[in-house]
Amino acid sequence: METLITKACQTHRLSKDEIMALLANDAAEKNLAAAADDIRRRYVGDGIHLRGLIEFSNICRQNCMYCGLRRDNRCLERYRLEPEEILRLAKNAHAYGYQTVVLQSGEDIYFTADLMADLIKKMKALDLAVTLSIGERTFEEYQVLRNAGADRYLLRIETTDPLLYEALDPHMSHANRLRCLRDLKTLGYEVGTGSLVGLPGQSIASLAEDILFFQEIDADMIGIGPFIPNQDTPLGKEKRGDFGLTRRMVALTRLMLPEANIPATTAVGTVRPDGREIMLASGANVIMPNVTEGEARQKYALYPGKICVDDTPTHCRSCIEGKIKGLGRFVATDKGFRRRGK
Ligand code: SAM
Ligand code: SF4
Ligand code: FES
Repeated sequence: METLITKACQTHRLSKDEIMALLANDAAEKNLAAAADDIRRRYVGDGIHLRGLIEFSNICRQNCMYCGLRRDNRCLERYRLEPEEILRLAKNAHAYGYQTVVLQSGEDIYFTADLMADLIKKMKALDLAVTLSIGERTFEEYQVLRNAGADRYLLRIETTDPLLYEALDPHMSHANRLRCLRDLKTLGYEVGTGSLVGLPGQSIASLAEDILFFQEIDADMIGIGPFIPNQDTPLGKEKRGDFGLTRRMVALTRLMLPEANIPATTAVGTVRPDGREIMLASGANVIMPNVTEGEARQKYALYPGKICVDDTPTHCRSCIEGKIKGLGRFVATDKGFRRRGK
């Protein structure tokens, strides 16, 4: 295993079988995480980028089997923030010192490309970098959003196994997911993707394929989190994704894509109180503090136990800074675009 870790550190290339061997080996986890931490320090430094997350609508036309926002979930009270309110939250994010806002929602078509474009322009005028995470749209819509100034787009592939993807995301096609990611690249967005770890029916082989896929599309950002079962979805009785396996995925992703921005996700903080700190010490370099306020914070209920739902954005700001300092790291002061060419 040590030879494989050294090879990954030196070449950033491993075969599918080699990735699988490391993913399957929990005894190698500590050394793998230490190697990823070292590569993270050498390629992207000790600064941690904070991106203020605005969860502006929990209305979704899709029906993903794992997600609490799925269309058929009748137990969820739906909300949609007014554009003025979204802008107010972005201004707050700026005041907390966040240089990027992430506008995230279900696939809510009320927010047309033109409406979003108007919001994006206003946020760009505040000197914020703007990341979108609003799901699948057409090339033309992505173009309108990009022309308005959107810098980045997050769209997880969720799993690269096409059959599993289409079983878990009914009426969505794997081919269209890939089309979206390609369009976003063509339009010059920084593109973020990622996967869920521990989906029912997911194999180690398909997780290894996920990492090779991140490399193949040259992903700028990669969000990896454990699947957390939600009682109000068809997968409510399934097992949650394993924390250790998620950590090995994050660490290997850092070794294979040394310059990528990799968040310590909210889901890892949900399955373990110190989950985000562990990921930050295993290759991650980004945190996305929630700046949504009040009831919307509770109602953006992807899965149960989501951290921070009863906290305020101000509290999360200082909580996160404390965690970062505790790790001997610091809050980065630039916008945190992907570095290239070391
Ligand atoms: N609707 C957009 C989309 O799907 O790309 C953005 C919002 S969606 C809620 C953001 C991410 O939440 C998804 O990409 C998925 O990986 C994650 N997610 C949904 N349900 C989850 C669950 N039960 N456990 C962990 N993560 C989940
Ligand atoms: Fe909708 Fe995204 Fe949840 Fe799927 S993962 S149901 S697209 S919010
Ligand atoms: Fe929200 Fe710690 S980050 S309470």
